[in-house]
Amino acid sequence: MNLLVIGSGGREHALAWKLSQSSRIRKVYVAPGNAGTALEPGLENIPFTAISDLVAFAQKEKIALTVVGPESPLADGIVDVFDAAGLKIFGPTKKAAQLEASKTFAKAFMQRHGIPTAASASFDNPSEAHHYIEQKEGPIVIKADGLAAGKGVVIAMTLADAHEAIDTMLIENKLGEAGARILIEDYLEGEEASFIVMSDGRNVLPLATSQDHKRLLDNDKGPNTGGMGAYSPAQIVSPTLHAKIMREIITPTIQGMARDGELYTGFLYAGLMITPKGEVKVLEFNCRLGDPETQPIMLRLKSDLTILLEHAMNRTLDKVEIEWDRRAALGVVMAAEGYPGEPRKNDAITGLAEIMINQSSTDDFHIFHSGTVFGNQGKNEILTAGGRILCVTALGENIKLAHQRAYDIASKIHFKGCQMRHDIGYKGIGNHDK
Ligand code: AMP
Ligand code: GLY
Repeated sequence: MNLLVIGSGGREHALAWKLSQSSRIRKVYVAPGNAGTALEPGLENIPFTAISDLVAFAQKEKIALTVVGPESPLADGIVDVFDAAGLKIFGPTKKAAQLEASKTFAKAFMQRHGIPTAASASFDNPSEAHHYIEQKEGPIVIKADGLAAGKGVVIAMTLADAHEAIDTMLIENKLGEAGARILIEDYLEGEEASFIVMSDGRNVLPLATSQDHKRLLDNDKGPNTGGMGAYSPAQIVSPTLHAKIMREIITPTIQGMARDGELYTGFLYAGLMITPKGEVKVLEFNCRLGDPETQPIMLRLKSDLTILLEHAMNRTLDKVEIEWDRRAALGVVMAAEGYPGEPRKNDAITGLAEIMINQSSTDDFHIFHSGTVFGNQGKNEILTAGGRILCVTALGENIKLAHQRAYDIASKIHFKGCQMRHDIGYKGIGNHDK
């Protein structure tokens, strides 16, 4: 059978790569994909992004299942449109995707169903928002309600910064519609973890735990990004904590959606803060897999992903087990100069083709592409074309060895202005493997 993966980032490269390894699969189309998915055996890029074009393609090619990578097609209702056309697609409906697409919706949902999260209030009126924070002190968090491509959260260290963020969103409309409503949230201290599950609407299959590194620079300094690297497993999530997260957060969320009349089918990503007291609170929900968390997670996944997805579509996820490589995996992101602002583009990437030619799916590493395109010389010339460019992902007996392997490979790849953190996985190494 043939499958379709929607998206063009490292997450989609990893997802399509993993799907293509199943003996049941002839081809995995990626729409629109990147240079990495174009080079990968078993994958083929197609140049469509409009939902109507994707539906027509899926009908014509008799696509057995479509898997959606990023949030925006989900928020736009791609699942509803495919469903109406009788096409199989894995992801939440437009209504269910509101868990990510509207932070106000997500907060009200969590409050209604007793799911732990930071105290907050929602505003579209700037003077009411300014008045609310008068009674607070810094730090405090200002969040745009809608999807803002990672730019919608301001951690205001002082009240002056918070007042400024309110004006930026509600008066100057810097984030457009996404920032026309804001959420003001209490600041939480602790360590973050990403908890990602597959849901069939009733049953849940948790994926391996992982930890992202959101800040641009070493030691969690600099601006927030989409993620500069990730590793799996996240040892902060002990078996006891895992059970607590399932009990207090994941199960009530899936049951709450069902009770509200909107079954949640798809990947669900809970961004969590684990407080020093051991409490777990939801920072955000995403209605999709994480990027770059997916890259190390897919490298560790031993089960056939097509079989897991089939169970998810048939609402039989309770009947399947998932198998993981017991080794750790770690991915380091190589990003363009200027990221997370305006990235520099069209720089040649050297050292990459040599490594990719010899790469096999049984290797202990894989290079997943994000913002890459071919230059005029076709497949022999790969150029930068976005913020995050590559995620070099490797397995190792422990996080420290996975870190060394990934960085060893990354050190052979070069492009002008490359930004890369040097401490991916250090929290995991510090805790357990030193
Ligand atoms: P979000 O998109 O809501 O996950 O926010 C992006 C990042 O901002 C998170 O990964 C955290 O690092 C940080 N953040 C969000 N909300 C809070 C909060 N209430 N307290 C502390 N940090 C937060
Ligand atoms: N890495 C964070 C995210 O995908 O939202």
